[in-house]
Amino acid sequence: MSPRSTTPRDFVYLDNAATSLPKAVGVADAVRAALLRAGNPGRSAHVLSIRSARDLFAARERLAGFFGSADSSRFVFTENATTALNIAIKGILRPGDHVVTTSVEHNSVMRPLRRMEEGGCRITVVPAGRDGVVDAKAVLSAIRKDTRLVAVVHASNVSGAIQPVGEIVRGARRLGAFTLVDAAQTAGGLPIHLGDLPADMLAAPGHKGLLGPQGTGFLYVREGVPLAPLIEGGTGSRSEEDHQPDFYPDALESGTQNSVGLAGLAVSLSWLLRKGADNIRKKEMGLIAELIEGMERIRGVTVFGPKDTAKCVSVLSFLVEGMDPAETGRRLEKGFGILVRAGLHCSPNSHRTLGTFPEGTVRLSPGPFTTRKEIALLLRALRKISASRR
Ligand SMILES: Cc1ncc(COP(=O)(O)O)c(C=O)c1O
Repeated sequence: MSPRSTTPRDFVYLDNAATSLPKAVGVADAVRAALLRAGNPGRSAHVLSIRSARDLFAARERLAGFFGSADSSRFVFTENATTALNIAIKGILRPGDHVVTTSVEHNSVMRPLRRMEEGGCRITVVPAGRDGVVDAKAVLSAIRKDTRLVAVVHASNVSGAIQPVGEIVRGARRLGAFTLVDAAQTAGGLPIHLGDLPADMLAAPGHKGLLGPQGTGFLYVREGVPLAPLIEGGTGSRSEEDHQPDFYPDALESGTQNSVGLAGLAVSLSWLLRKGADNIRKKEMGLIAELIEGMERIRGVTVFGPKDTAKCVSVLSFLVEGMDPAETGRRLEKGFGILVRAGLHCSPNSHRTLGTFPEGTVRLSPGPFTTRKEIALLLRALRKISASRR
């Protein structure tokens, strides 16, 4: 997929689910330029403050455009998906509330939920099947009168399995519960239109599929969702008042923003808008299909998750028989310069669900700039590693 970023590529990078590399073309230049001239956005009335504010406005408008929303003010910038998920979970729940979630969530959802449980919330974790997919009907039937929130991951960061979030979100809405979608592994690589997916809140990083710098992310909050801010402070607006403004995005955006990173995100979003999530998905699913086909032919290699590319994102887990996943990852890097992620991927429950706990798996996550040649290199390396074990 071109145009390519100019980032030097000394390795075969297959860890885009952790953070994307390279970034979209122009991102690094935009970050450097912003660093050299960034005033504090939305604070002062001088030219450099206004320029930074424009970068933020551009990023926000492009987010709204990319996710099919008419109101960019509902996109709140955060430093990553974790912060966005914490703002959502801690802002919506009150003691005594009930929450429904699934057994394939990331710790960025489970840990804040467990914290809220200590404060008097109750949690139902709906188990996913061995294929890593949760049944929408099981999630909906766990909703009770006192259920305030249904929190669900859009696609697993371990198996890549896409969850039936559309059915869950629409059903939960009918039953009167708020919904939170963790789109950490789908934003950018899977088309998301907030008109078709009526989630109350959607959290995503800017640094994974959106191809922006680390230190960026966002929380989308639908109008009317009563979210208390996690952090209050200076917003550059209503400065005469002791109380936090209640209008968006200021209600949830206190303190100096990451205007340098967001200048980069504005550029990557512009690239994504030109390219289109559909085209990125097509490219990535072609690579995943080659991976699955190739890996299934290697003796001693087991692939976890959906084998049908209509049911997954660009994330795939595997094990080499008789070899610790960390050792496989180490051999891929030391022997072949291939960078992957091994272990539990901050999602122990997903591994319990797949039956790969406590060792975990090796995860491969191609990105939009991964080439077929790199996939062929990975397959060759795996054949050698697997053969060496016998
Ligand atoms: C499903 C999922 N949720 C949340 C997160 C947290 O994202 P971040 O690292 O941007 O905080 C990740 C990161 O890998 C993830 O895969």
